[in-house]
Amino acid sequence: MMNETVINGLYIVSAIFFVFGLKMLGKAEQARKGNLISAIGMLIAIVTALISQSVLEWQWIAVGMIAGSIVGALAARLVAMTAMPEMVALFNGFGGAASLLVGWSEYHRYTVTNTYMEANVLSLLIIILTIVIGGATFTGSIVAWGKLSEKIPSKAIQYPGQQFVNVLIAASLIGAAMLFGPLRESLNVDSYILVIVTIVIACILGITFVIPIGGGDMPVVISLLNSFSGMAACAAGFVISNNVLIVAGALVGSSGIILTNIMCKSMNRKLTNVLFSGFGATKASTGGGFQGEAKPVSVEDAYLMLEAASNVLVVPGYGMAVAQAQHAIQELAAQLEENGAEVNFAVHPVAGRMPGHMNVLLAEANVPYEQLKEMEDVNPTIENVDIVIVIGANDVVNPAARTDETSPIYGMPIIDVDKARTVIVMKRSMNPGFAGIDNPLFFNDNTRMLFGDAKKSTQGLVAEFKG
Ligand code: TAP
Repeated sequence: MMNETVINGLYIVSAIFFVFGLKMLGKAEQARKGNLISAIGMLIAIVTALISQSVLEWQWIAVGMIAGSIVGALAARLVAMTAMPEMVALFNGFGGAASLLVGWSEYHRYTVTNTYMEANVLSLLIIILTIVIGGATFTGSIVAWGKLSEKIPSKAIQYPGQQFVNVLIAASLIGAAMLFGPLRESLNVDSYILVIVTIVIACILGITFVIPIGGGDMPVVISLLNSFSGMAACAAGFVISNNVLIVAGALVGSSGIILTNIMCKSMNRKLTNVLFSGFGATKASTGGGFQGEAKPVSVEDAYLMLEAASNVLVVPGYGMAVAQAQHAIQELAAQLEENGAEVNFAVHPVAGRMPGHMNVLLAEANVPYEQLKEMEDVNPTIENVDIVIVIGANDVVNPAARTDETSPIYGMPIIDVDKARTVIVMKRSMNPGFAGIDNPLFFNDNTRMLFGDAKKSTQGLVAEFKG
């Protein structure tokens, strides 16, 4: 058995590792190290908990570590970068399921030791809270995973009486919690039945919560569910009186809600709008509604323009991920630099479909961190940029967000590429992006449309430079 002071000391060390690890995730160049530090913190916490509670011999801990490392390494190697949101959704779901099991097993312990009736009401309420949040997070994340991977229809599914069903579910969960805790003496069925029914209703809640939200909004939902899984873990920490689980759960819960907030702000939408409006449903195309004419450009002419530029800014978006053009654009950037141009990449906070989507792809293609700039850093001097290459981005460079008060994205911060000297937009058609709205940028005098798959167009430009 470990001494209490040593255990708490180790828990504090792991909590410090979590905090520093999280902090380092905020900067691309430190993120890998931050991830590693957090993982070491988690390892210390788990090993300390298992050994201090005499739950397992170290041999079993080693077996668990090896098995877990194999699963983690395979997942990291085999899952495509673009499938990361799905994987995160699944991992979140498992976190929720784990919390549910902790709450359930604590209740089970009361029944085995015959102490349920004497138990403290607050402890019972925390157990039921852990079960409810854990169960809803589990099924909600599974539905989010299904929508993202298109195993189930990704459109927002709304049905008549939906609000009524939600109110009914919430009311029955509150009723169950009351019967389980403060009113347990008046309970005239076996409390085990009540717990099982609560688990089932919590799981239904997860489904009814996520089903009405469209696939495009899943990253926000996943971030929110991530926050929920943290809260469930935090509640589980109270249930089993484990300080490090309380700290880790609170960190995950709060960082998840901060990320959710950042995403909503960057999309200029309220969380309630994401959760209850079905906006993320697949929308019909509304492209081509603007007056004016878009000016197409060929690869050869785009090359001549780029060849003469001394300052180029690349703005990637979802289309770059679809085309998997990150390696090609990195190669083009290298060619431009060789040609004497200064090249930077401007990344919008919600470009793509998940937080850090563009950063992940550009890092995979070995674009140097120093070349990655944030929107706030490039906008003030964007007038001095010779050419902006917009590769598969649309909404995040739509000037209607600045100028058109009637636009659904009005007020959303964008990268002001229209203010640069010349803009080359790479996309396949005049179709709109995620928000389903037209983009006046495509009709500007200083914009040239390089139509086609972003990877093919970029490879064409690289070939011109090499030729
Ligand atoms: P979008 O506005 O979705 O535009 C992507 C563009 O890429 C489309 O217009 C499409 O045009 C083009 N494209 C698709 N495949 C292509 C290919 N193979 N080659 C070339 N172009 C291709 O992307 P964005 O500017 O990155 O904006 C992101 C949007 O997603 C925002 O509205 C944001 O609010 C939303 N959103 C983001 C997140 C996060 S966390 N990032 C989460 C949820 C929602 P064509 O079809 O004509 O090629």
